[in-house]
Amino acid sequence: AAAEKGGFDSFMEKEIHDQPQAVADTLLGRADASGRLELDELRIDPQELKDISKIVVLACGTSAYAAHVAKYAIEHWCRIPVDVELSHEFRYRDPIVGPDTLVVTISQSGETMDTLMALRYAKEQGARTLAICNTNGSSIPRESDAVLYTHAGPEIAVASTKAFLAQITATYLLGLYLAQLRGKLFQGEIKDILADMADIPAKIQDILERKDEVISLAHAMKDTTSVLFLGRHVGFPVAMEGALKLKELAYIHAEGFAAGELKHGPIALIDEGQPVFVVVPSPRGRHSMHSKVVSNIQEVRARGARTMVIAEEGDTAVGEFAEWVFRVPETKTLLMPLLSVVPLQIFACALAGAKGLNVDQPRNLAKSVTVE
Ligand code: G6P
Repeated sequence: AAAEKGGFDSFMEKEIHDQPQAVADTLLGRADASGRLELDELRIDPQELKDISKIVVLACGTSAYAAHVAKYAIEHWCRIPVDVELSHEFRYRDPIVGPDTLVVTISQSGETMDTLMALRYAKEQGARTLAICNTNGSSIPRESDAVLYTHAGPEIAVASTKAFLAQITATYLLGLYLAQLRGKLFQGEIKDILADMADIPAKIQDILERKDEVISLAHAMKDTTSVLFLGRHVGFPVAMEGALKLKELAYIHAEGFAAGELKHGPIALIDEGQPVFVVVPSPRGRHSMHSKVVSNIQEVRARGARTMVIAEEGDTAVGEFAEWVFRVPETKTLLMPLLSVVPLQIFACALAGAKGLNVDQPRNLAKSVTVE
């Protein structure tokens, strides 16, 4: 068993360390040297994909947060409306889907019953269906018109880590492919984005090499009972995933919020000593977004919160307001989730370890939920 865990104490730690490979393998062989995407494996008529007028992404759990991240990228690159919905909510509310809708399901296992039933419902409504899945030949890809596999390798730990990064990578490939088909990005732009994606594995590796900074924070916080996570834009689903990891692994009450929503309610939760993680957008991106999130850090800090910040290397503005800062390498704004979620995964895993919990098999959870 020790060998299966690659020398780590748990599958979860091993899988966190597998992430550079998971991203690299998911990118492998999907574009030529000029950046032209070749997704022949999709088995869906390119003309049909060109004609779709809307995308609906369906998933549960961590896979649903990958879907939320994907919405930002696909809408930005392809100018197609993208709705994201939890599979189990979708089919009970009379959703508007038809032959011009591409329904994308995201599932690590390919067996999640809620997502499978939503897929069947979408097919009955005449939608085109595409599965993003990590498990070859599982039910969801078998029943879909098209499949784009994530190549994260088998994920054993119940809480998802490397599949999440591979899912974001695959949805981005899909987004770039649709942008290419529909002529929404120049080939040079696609090539440029793919080149930055190809740099992501080394940047994740850089984060993993500094994991001790996160582990010592987790040990110091092992008696914490509540943690809040704030993010904006693609940092918002990262905040929600950071909170989910902490619930799942460490049984700590945690919530992720959109930073802009703070003033509309959640700020009432802040009092002396409340830990708040903040995922800060790049200062090189849209300037106003960065400065608004920095103001949010000041606002919660002024009310006594302890602020733990995930910020880009070279972001000099955040330091003075944060109790703890973890630096992630520079990348394009849309690619940041592939980096900023990693310290949050390490934090949840280390905190659960410090509490003596079984990180691979948290109580009450199953890897693959095959009941509705
Ligand atoms: C279960 C797992 C989660 C996972 C979710 C969706 O609840 O515990 O880690 O994110 O199912 O699974 P899927 O296989 O469809 O991605």
